[in-house]
Amino acid sequence: MSPAAPVKILVLYDSFTGNVEQMARLVADGAREVAGVEVRLRKIDGAGELCALPEDVLWADGLAVGSPTNMGLLSWKMKRFWDDDMRPHWMKIDGKIGCAFSSAGGWGGGMELACQSVLTLLVNFGFLVFGVTDYASRDLTLHYGAVSAKAPADEAAKGACRLLGHRLAAWTAVCIHGVAGAHPGLTLAERRPPHA
Ligand SMILES: Cc1cc2nc3c(=O)[nH]c(=O)nc-3n(C[C@H](O)[C@H](O)[C@H](O)COP(=O)(O)O)c2cc1C
Repeated sequence: MSPAAPVKILVLYDSFTGNVEQMARLVADGAREVAGVEVRLRKIDGAGELCALPEDVLWADGLAVGSPTNMGLLSWKMKRFWDDDMRPHWMKIDGKIGCAFSSAGGWGGGMELACQSVLTLLVNFGFLVFGVTDYASRDLTLHYGAVSAKAPADEAAKGACRLLGHRLAAWTAVCIHGVAGAHPGLTLAERRPPHA
């Protein structure tokens, strides 16, 4: 069932050398798989129409926020966006759906910590944040958000990004637009019996 109004999804990211950007495009592709979704892809300090503005956050019902892992945390540019640009909107934008993704130099480099720092920031703004319980592949999960060592190179890492976007759009359709049929738990139950 499609929602009456578009489900508005913002994929907001920072990227210095392009790895998180590749993740962001895949997250956006995943979100577009859900019926009735409109996606904006926006970069911190991006050029032209790609440039992230507070208005994009205000517009969105659900956000995926991606950052390079920097010293185990989100990047300073992403932090600055929320500290400076979004601060006037604090206490006015509660209740949006949020999730995180990050690329680090290598596995164990702290990408889940970086995701956690993004989630902490979103919680501070009153957003409802989530992780994904499914496995993207035999050895890859995204419990705290989608993660990648450098660019998402193999199908598992790419699939994790798409799954995050898809799940964001589905949760946003359910929680913000009341489209019960989009509930991912129902889909999961059909796909796999509990504790199988
Ligand atoms: C200032 C700085 C700090 C970094 N800190 C980490 C780190 O803590 N752990 C890690 O594995 N990689 C770290 N890296 C590497 C980046 O996370 C990695 O290259 C990432 O893929 C870059 O994403 P981007 O191409 O979207 O900029 C750091 C890079 C920079 C520039």
